[in-house]
Amino acid sequence: MIDPFGRSLNYLRMSVTDRCNLRCQYCMPEEGIASVGHGSILSYEELLRVARVASRLGIRKIRVTGGDPLVRKGIVNFLGQLASLPEKPEITLTTNGLRLAEFAVDLKAAGVNRVNVSLDTLRTDRFERITRRAGLDQVLAGLEAAESAGLGPLKLNMVPMAGINSDEIADFARLTLDRPWDVRFIELMPVSSRLEVGEKQRVPLKTILAELRKLGELETELPTGPHGPAQLFRLPGARGCLGVIPAVSSHFCNECNRLRVTADGRIRPCLFSDQEIDLRSVLRDSADDQPLEELFRQAAAGKPNGHNLKSCGCGPGDRLMQQIGG
Ligand code: 5AD
Ligand code: SF4
Repeated sequence: MIDPFGRSLNYLRMSVTDRCNLRCQYCMPEEGIASVGHGSILSYEELLRVARVASRLGIRKIRVTGGDPLVRKGIVNFLGQLASLPEKPEITLTTNGLRLAEFAVDLKAAGVNRVNVSLDTLRTDRFERITRRAGLDQVLAGLEAAESAGLGPLKLNMVPMAGINSDEIADFARLTLDRPWDVRFIELMPVSSRLEVGEKQRVPLKTILAELRKLGELETELPTGPHGPAQLFRLPGARGCLGVIPAVSSHFCNECNRLRVTADGRIRPCLFSDQEIDLRSVLRDSADDQPLEELFRQAAAGKPNGHNLKSCGCGPGDRLMQQIGG
């Protein structure tokens, strides 16, 4: 699928649930949000059909997201089915890591290639403040388990927030010195005025880079293969690399190769646009895959050229992040 701006769309992010066992401040309000009804969430059969159609249309990499995908029952079996599609797409998973220790070996056996773990602090008290739940030790055990199971190189996503955890940028970066982990710093995106953290807490790209430069001369890494929006660096002699994702400060829209499918069955051509295409009713009304292909083509044709987050200060519209999958 090539969109009208010449971008080749070969990466699909599929959210399999809007449920999560954490309540990260930048993602959900404290009380959580009403989950969409069970009947609205796509079944695994439906998700697999979506993935099959997408793979036929040239999707080469599928990232399974949530909420937290590991809270959905039967997830390992589903991932195994994804990995067995005839086109053998690369299968990756984004998780908060809470249940990773439990699942790591099975995920590897199912054919998952890599996992990304979202982790914003290495301190127990802060973990509880940021995620409003306990569990740092579980996440750290999950990282070890994933690495031993061969799910590496692991990627860690960290969102620095002023006054909350931005003084840990260096600690995260130093993890790459003796671990083969890729640590990515993601600029906080203002998602919704219903949340406690927003634009005020955003640590801009240049501040993140300045923190990293204090640790040594950053070597610029050339990405191997499709690398998404991160700018990549390495500390001298480090085993893992560093990435900075300027979600707000700069536009990487011209390199965007992704489409999203929400847990309730909408194709979302752009994270920051409320435009959505209803797959679910077609999935449920038609046994024929042709109309589904048409909807994907329509999504590609309607993919916006870019967002204007910086000047409009708006987020991904009415939906919270865990409903879209990040
Ligand atoms: N800003 C930046 N990153 C966010 N994520 C979730 N909400 C936000 C936000 N408001 C991140 C998670 C995860 C990824 C899928 O998206 O930390 O790493
Ligand atoms: Fe859950 Fe991820 Fe949202 Fe945190 S950011 S509440 S881990 S979905």
